[in-house]
Amino acid sequence: MASTIAFLASSWPQLLFTLFIIYVISAIAAWWRLREFKGPWLGKFSYLWMASAELSNEMNNYYMAASKKYGKLTRVGPNDLVSSDAEIVRHINGVRSGYTKSNYYDVMKIDPYVHNTFSETSPEVHTTNRAYMANGYSGKENPHLEDELDEVLKLFVGMIEEKYISTKDVLKVTDFSDLTSWYTLDSLTRIAYGRSFGWMKEGKDLFDYMKLTLEILPIMVFSGAVPIAGSLYLLLGRIAGPSPKDKKGIGRLLGLARDVVEERFQGDIGENQDMLDSWIRHGFTDRRRIAAEILFQIVAGGDTVSGALRATFLHVLSSARVMRKLTAEIDEAVKAGRVSDPISNEQTLKLPYLQAVMKEGLRIHPPSSGLLFKKVPKGGDVLDGRYVPEGTRVGHSMWAIQRDTKVYGPDTDVYRPERWTDADAETYANMEKQVDLVFGYGRWGCMGKPVAFMTLQKTLFELFRRYDFELLNPSRPYVEFCHIIFVHTNMKIRITRRSDSD
Ligand code: HEM
Repeated sequence: MASTIAFLASSWPQLLFTLFIIYVISAIAAWWRLREFKGPWLGKFSYLWMASAELSNEMNNYYMAASKKYGKLTRVGPNDLVSSDAEIVRHINGVRSGYTKSNYYDVMKIDPYVHNTFSETSPEVHTTNRAYMANGYSGKENPHLEDELDEVLKLFVGMIEEKYISTKDVLKVTDFSDLTSWYTLDSLTRIAYGRSFGWMKEGKDLFDYMKLTLEILPIMVFSGAVPIAGSLYLLLGRIAGPSPKDKKGIGRLLGLARDVVEERFQGDIGENQDMLDSWIRHGFTDRRRIAAEILFQIVAGGDTVSGALRATFLHVLSSARVMRKLTAEIDEAVKAGRVSDPISNEQTLKLPYLQAVMKEGLRIHPPSSGLLFKKVPKGGDVLDGRYVPEGTRVGHSMWAIQRDTKVYGPDTDVYRPERWTDADAETYANMEKQVDLVFGYGRWGCMGKPVAFMTLQKTLFELFRRYDFELLNPSRPYVEFCHIIFVHTNMKIRITRRSDSD
């Protein structure tokens, strides 16, 4: 032992030099593999560029700027390309492309021991589990889905009436970032757990869920991007990750999900006609896995839907023209008796400006900023006319894709719903196909899309039907954190009844 220590002490300069040489050789080898692809120079031989993007809280802007500079495929890491081209994303996600989910997804497990559909990297298991859940998610076998969402929407309006209405004599400063997060969490627990947990009613961050999610999300996303951090994260997740025994945070929701699943298996399947019933009837019997899926719904749908609501609100509030046209369409539909209260999903589809407001919101501020690296199959592939070796991770910048001037016209940095209402049929169809990509595509497309659309279009209609909203801090309307998805804080607004205006 003593002689080993003495040897190391005397030969550390040689050891350091050897390590340095090994690093240089491996960095050159890494650079050589993807030398054809341009990108930030740090990314060619290290994960430092990606790490700085992840730590910036605005990764959406980093990847978008790099894509604008370097083109359809930007090299961002030693083994990593990011695409800004919709066709490349469609090709990769195509049923027979042979691509698989890369190790980026491994860390997206919420229960550290059990995969969910999103984190699942085995194509076979992923396909089987999607099949169990497809009908339940689409709403085909749970006829009460819309009623369940309406129940929570009415509660939302009721809460605004009870607690958040300002008048000329009373100012109720309302944090719209909290309110929209509580609302979507109540909606999602209503459909996933069978009951809203009561974030809105309590008016606080139940189980510290939002606080703890904001703490864990950056670490999780960083670990997905930087593989060495990913290995460490998976190891630590088993020691200190969420546990169903936790009193707070994601672990607490996991515990509650397990209780719901156990209860359901004790009772009669089919009695409830909800999403969970549908999954089980289609053969989903692994109880821990079902609980992981229930929990994933909350994480997948919470900040995506509430983030989309906040960003769309902000854009509408920033344009007098858009606000005027939107409220005119809403008022006209109400006056003509063409809509129920709350508006039905079907009725929202007949309001072109409302649809345009929502789609333009998803376009200009895609709620999932991208990356979502897939792995190139055996034998490699040819993308944009260039060979990409097998095992390379290829992700995308959804922010760059949604600013494609060939699809949307020259003014893609502007929030302009009229690009939808004024478009001819062919342009509209192309734009719709492109904006749909914010939900992913093909084999890995978002299963919650019908829930997301229903929630967004109904909520936008019902809130603008009733209320005026004013930003209380227009120079910094909210604080935004992007870690694939967006978390906003401090969106202070004043809500008044439209009938009380002036
Ligand atoms: C505006 C809201 C939403 C957006 C923009 C969105 C977007 C996405 C994206 C980009 C993916 C990943 C695609 C990939 O890996 O390539 C995804 C997956 C998924 N989302 Fe959503 N999502 C939203 C809301 C929801 C909601 C409300 C739910 C549940 C009720 C949900 C459930 C899922 C599930 C289960 C997956 C995994 C699909 C798979 O890997 O096969 N999402 N979503």
